[in-house]
Amino acid sequence: MTPPKQTYTYDIRNSLSKNLFRGFWRMMTGFRHYYFIAVLMLAGSALMNTSSFLLVRHFVDNILPTGDVARLAPFVGLGFVLLAGGQGLFSFLSGRFASKTAEGLALRLRDAMYDHIQRLSFTYHDNMQTGELLSRATSDLDAIRRFFSEQAIGVGRILLLFTINFIAIAFLNIQLALISIIVVPFIAGLSFFFFGRISRLYEHLQEQEAKVATTLQENLSGVRVVKAFNRQDYERVKFDKEIFEHYRRGRGFLVMHALFWPLSDVLVFGQIIGGYFVGATLVINGTLSIGSYLAYVSLLGQLINPMRNLGRLIVDMSTGVVSYKRMMEVIGQEQESLVDGSHKPDGDLHGDIVFKDVSFQYNADTPVLYDVDFSVKAGQSVALLGSTGSGKTSVVSLIPRFYDYTSGSITIDGIELRDIPRGYLRGQVGVVEQEPFLFSRTIRDNITFSVSREVSEEEVIAAAKAAAVHDVIMTFPDGYNTLVGERGVTLSGGQKQRVVLARALLKNPRILILDDATSSVDSETEDEIRQALLRLMKGRTSFIIAHRIQTVMHADLILVFDKGRIVQRGNHNQLMREEGIYRQIFDLQSRIDEEVEKEATDVLGLPV
Ligand code: UTP
Ligand code: MG
Repeated sequence: MTPPKQTYTYDIRNSLSKNLFRGFWRMMTGFRHYYFIAVLMLAGSALMNTSSFLLVRHFVDNILPTGDVARLAPFVGLGFVLLAGGQGLFSFLSGRFASKTAEGLALRLRDAMYDHIQRLSFTYHDNMQTGELLSRATSDLDAIRRFFSEQAIGVGRILLLFTINFIAIAFLNIQLALISIIVVPFIAGLSFFFFGRISRLYEHLQEQEAKVATTLQENLSGVRVVKAFNRQDYERVKFDKEIFEHYRRGRGFLVMHALFWPLSDVLVFGQIIGGYFVGATLVINGTLSIGSYLAYVSLLGQLINPMRNLGRLIVDMSTGVVSYKRMMEVIGQEQESLVDGSHKPDGDLHGDIVFKDVSFQYNADTPVLYDVDFSVKAGQSVALLGSTGSGKTSVVSLIPRFYDYTSGSITIDGIELRDIPRGYLRGQVGVVEQEPFLFSRTIRDNITFSVSREVSEEEVIAAAKAAAVHDVIMTFPDGYNTLVGERGVTLSGGQKQRVVLARALLKNPRILILDDATSSVDSETEDEIRQALLRLMKGRTSFIIAHRIQTVMHADLILVFDKGRIVQRGNHNQLMREEGIYRQIFDLQSRIDEEVEKEATDVLGLPV
């Protein structure tokens, strides 16, 4: 079945409101009529119910005394059956529409939440923990679903039952009706008193739930590290601490509930007994008929029970309200626009890139790039070299606008980067990230992930060959259909890197960014990849980050970074003539190579 249209056409950000009622009301857009039908059906059901009590009264007061019971009883019986049947039917219909409202809303909310989360900025995701987002998208969302399926319908139901039964009792005796609702303000007061307390406790509970989710998620992602360092016990103690806190808060929350119930029950039962007593007195005085009293006893239950439930609802609503706030905190975050920027070039980019005095910082206090200044012509290659943490990844993440630079200017084909829409730009850039990530799908799905169009088998194979991974894939029993990751064959680090490279190459981007893309690949394979890349990189601008001189020496421009600044620039020959980091690294690496060679021949007697 395809999801209903309103799942996608409603922008969930419209539900943002400081006023909770307005927020919930807006959230119900497209589902309000179902909600009202549900409440209306409830009214039908309640009317049938109340009528059956009035029928009792009629039977006792008007039919029994006539002595004509034998003739009329079947009609009365039929009346009861019809009323009961009608009540059941209405109640079923009401449930049906209530679930349509609540589940429909939950479906839309889940969809919107997922879509929204993946459109938030890199910075937001850097700072937000996955477990925190997970708990909002699951547990909080469920509390909102319950709010609509139980509490919102419940409120309608209670108000209706209360009104209908109050009118019915007033019809029997107005004095009785007024006496029967003395307890109402007390229950309302008590509920509101507990509402505040319980919502605070629930908020604390949800915060802790997010912490537990984060700990669990991190522990599962890092399960190999935990096992490798034999830190299971340590992790367990850490997790125990979090779940014990969860237990403690959960217990506090339930204790508060447990306190509320007996208190409201005392009030309710006091009211019922008082009502019976006053009613009985009226019967003895002769003001009230026996039939009316019998009807009243049942109606009073119907009037007071909803009151009791109202207390529960108000208290339960606090969970929906807290969860609404927690979800709206995420929904309220600005999405990263993919269509911003006034200048969308026609067709593909050419690829002339100019950095001019670019500075950048991830957060307010620590700059990571200072005055980065270089230019590259379309089709040229730039290599970035430098110690760890010197800012290489940061420089290249500015190009697809993963982050926006703080000052200076970056232009592509003369257009300021900020003016180029992110969506278009990212379509032109292919990135191999420093930490390769593959989805638990087949190898083919992972390679074709980079493009949205249909891809032919030949294209996939060509990309895999260029990344020197085709032959490896063919050795797997399922070839390109091999499942990667959790459930399938797990690839080696180097294989993973090459699959990710194939993914970027398949996209055939104008600008190619390879961040340490061959770090886990042996020199021979790297050579193979380099040859393929040399062919592929013709005509496109490429950025290569690597630690090995051999990888970067063929680049048109080599930039050496240190502590966020460019300290050397030029091609291999130029840099070799200069004193500086580049030659130091070159000497060091050649010395290591020589030593390895020497040792291999001297000690092991192997020719290299
Ligand atoms: P980079 O990630 O740009 O360094 O971080 P790099 O040159 O690529 O390093 P290697 O070779 O991959 O190891 C530059 C600085 O930016 C900070 C880091 O702490 C580092 O000092 N940084 C990085 C952040 O503050 N936030 C981030 O999300 C990433
Ligand atoms: Mg890096």
